[in-house]
Amino acid sequence: MKVKIHSMVFERRDSLLIWYNSKPLLIVKNEGKFYAMDAICAHMGCALLSEVDGTTAVCPAHGAKYDVKTGELIEKPTVKPEVPCESENLKIPLKTYNVSVSADGFLEINP
Ligand code: FES
Repeated sequence: MKVKIHSMVFERRDSLLIWYNSKPLLIVKNEGKFYAMDAICAHMGCALLSEVDGTTAVCPAHGAKYDVKTGELIEKPTVKPEVPCESENLKIPLKTYNVSVSADGFLEINP
């Protein structure tokens, strides 16, 4: 699916949070490649993943870290007592998408 976001948007930023198929999606550009991942934290499902360091998305609620390339949890949340990191509707790895750039420069996100 072509997304109406031109790749030039990433000339001044490394990440962007958008709505895609009625849910938040994080798009990251790192070393010339684009990555996309569902942006709802699997910990408590209440925070959007919007803080990015390289290809690591950090949950602003309790600090869980995800690899946007794979959707895997790479660092557990910092909350005591521990709360399970998955629920019935939120599973790890978070869903990731292939992102390519079309000839006209717009991003294409593929399941
Ligand atoms: S909701 Fe993301 S770490 Fe708790």
